[in-house]
Amino acid sequence: MQQYGILVTCWILLLVNNVIVTIAVDERSWIESYEIARSIVETMTIDEKVQLTISTNGPCTGNTAKTSRFPALCLNDGPMGVRGSKKTSVFTSGINAAASFDRELIYQRGVNIAQEFYDKGINVWLGPANDLLRNPRAGRNWEAFGEDPVLSGITTVETIKGAQSQGVIATVKHYTANNQETYRKHMSSNIDERTLHELYLWPFQRAVEAEVGAIMCGYNKVNDVYACENEELLTHDLREEMGFKGWVMSDWGATHSTAKAANAGLDMEMNLGRGNYYGDKLKTAVERGQVSLQTLNNMVERIVATFYKVGQDQNFPEVQVNTNIPVISGALLDPGVDVQRNHKEGIRKMGAASTILLRNRNNILPIRGDKLHERQIVVAGSDAGAGVLPPNSCPLNMCPDGSIAMGGGSGSAHYPYLITPLEGITERAKNEFIEVKAILQDTSLVSDVLTIVSTTVSAPDTCIVFGSAFAAEGIDRPFYGVDPQHLLIINHISNVCENTIVVIHSGAPIDLPFANHPNVKAIVWAGYPGQESGHALADILFGDINPSARLPFTIAKNYDDYPSDISLFEHEVSYKEKLLLGYRWFDAKGIDPLFEFGFGLSYTTFSYNDLQVQVLDKEHVEALISVRNIGQTSGAEVVQAYLSFPENAGEPPKVLRGFEKVFLEQDEEKIVSFQLLKTELSIWDTNTHTWIIPSPGQYTLHIGASSRDIRASAPFSL
Ligand code: NOJ
Repeated sequence: MQQYGILVTCWILLLVNNVIVTIAVDERSWIESYEIARSIVETMTIDEKVQLTISTNGPCTGNTAKTSRFPALCLNDGPMGVRGSKKTSVFTSGINAAASFDRELIYQRGVNIAQEFYDKGINVWLGPANDLLRNPRAGRNWEAFGEDPVLSGITTVETIKGAQSQGVIATVKHYTANNQETYRKHMSSNIDERTLHELYLWPFQRAVEAEVGAIMCGYNKVNDVYACENEELLTHDLREEMGFKGWVMSDWGATHSTAKAANAGLDMEMNLGRGNYYGDKLKTAVERGQVSLQTLNNMVERIVATFYKVGQDQNFPEVQVNTNIPVISGALLDPGVDVQRNHKEGIRKMGAASTILLRNRNNILPIRGDKLHERQIVVAGSDAGAGVLPPNSCPLNMCPDGSIAMGGGSGSAHYPYLITPLEGITERAKNEFIEVKAILQDTSLVSDVLTIVSTTVSAPDTCIVFGSAFAAEGIDRPFYGVDPQHLLIINHISNVCENTIVVIHSGAPIDLPFANHPNVKAIVWAGYPGQESGHALADILFGDINPSARLPFTIAKNYDDYPSDISLFEHEVSYKEKLLLGYRWFDAKGIDPLFEFGFGLSYTTFSYNDLQVQVLDKEHVEALISVRNIGQTSGAEVVQAYLSFPENAGEPPKVLRGFEKVFLEQDEEKIVSFQLLKTELSIWDTNTHTWIIPSPGQYTLHIGASSRDIRASAPFSL
């Protein structure tokens, strides 16, 4: 293939015959990439062009056919790592990445995930997902980045930048308002224009600014038009308003028409095997004048240009997977090139950085041994250990057993191994002279639990009990709570063990009815942490790493406190809470959550001093605050900036506009700065259909340690 001009060179690693070598990849501008694409597409026949808009049979989740002028593309799931292939990693989930509030680690996670796709010869990563968490029961919350558009936007951007720096095309999905699994292929998300822009389009707009290569439109309808043939969304909002330059592919089977979809702005139909509406049907539509040749050329140019933009014409590896075979998982026919590198280190790091300490009464954590007297602790619950079925027992992780570290569906990957909490804790406890006793049966009799707990010799005795909520694509969770048998063991343990630490594996907010039990001294949310689950958890429990994660969603006291539900009777879902999603609703209605958005404890404490807010010009406000570690150990604080708009702007009481994670040694102080530019200062105006800065009026900037723990506020006017 012809080599084209070079703009920026970055270095990446390539696996040749299982040896990692470093090569240079050339990044191009969109302008240059489109010039190349045009010169190629004008030499293609119409048959070659339509081939590129459709899936064919092949080794990956999605495959385009090779033509004389352009290679075949391999598109593969998914957000937690390479789906359906061996010798790959199971990374931390999207919801964990968001919980870390750590830009650097999020970027590095994107790099590491993409390296595995690259090494397997996969051109297009079908991730990240950035659907907003609208309801706690939605089956796919764990794949994406939580309830707040700004947190989701920043997490999306860092992930994409990391991934695309490795020469892999990232795909943000599912465009848009794809927030439940119930009736996912038919339901309509009915949203007003302002809410759509300020919440559901926001993370996609940030992705476009980060030059994402591909966007996947969702199964659902938006305002009664299928997302994948919705001209308003695909052409008007995405291309004209946001300036998206890459291509739009449909979710698998989410295309419903030929001319309508093509004219609306859908570039590629994806489906199992061959598509139903593009390919030959698209050719006929062009010949009949229902779709113009120019439209077809534009569709194909977008795909080709994106390929050149990320430099995939330069030594991109051959496809090394065969993930699209109907398999009984564990018996994959994949050639199995080992692409794991040292990614387990990053997975463990992100696992610990995303484990949230929600409660820590009497400083029961971190667990410390007493070198003179051997202690014993109890680890309880089926979610603590290995299941009867080994990991990867069912396709797409749909029969979870034992500890939950990932969800199910296309967003799952193949475990190379799973370090269970019991393994991680036992290994680490040895160094502290602590013996671990396990009760892995959730249904263990109360009397048995009592005997084991009362015969431990620790002083004070400590029990770590586990509960989880498994969630998967295709089905929303039926209730807001841990799986019922887990509740049983949590109740047994907390009734008999004076010092109970509850650890939760869930991908979303979860009912914690035991939170105020006097024996429940600590609560830890570990999310879906991936293959290094037990190690990452032990790092936090034993204080090797100081917890610094924060809630990317609101945990309500009662499910009914949330503004939305998922109903079995509704295909037309009204987003009637409008802008009041998540904490915005709780703030506006004065409802106290159990644990608020942005909340998380540390083993140290921080003070905030001297907030200074300066209006630099009409579209630029700068805030500086000094943060000091006033506790007994080093640690990281997530400093959060919330904005209250002038009252007549019609905004929620306050909205997140930025955050910084700062690492501070004991007694160290740092100045943290926030820049609020037009994006942060604007609201969507439905009269002019543009972003406007509502002025004049008084704004207030709040800096805090969570959405309910504001440490300093300062007014300003524009
Ligand atoms: C359907 C899922 O919604 C999507 O996220 C995934 O990428 C495709 N299937 C392909 O597996």
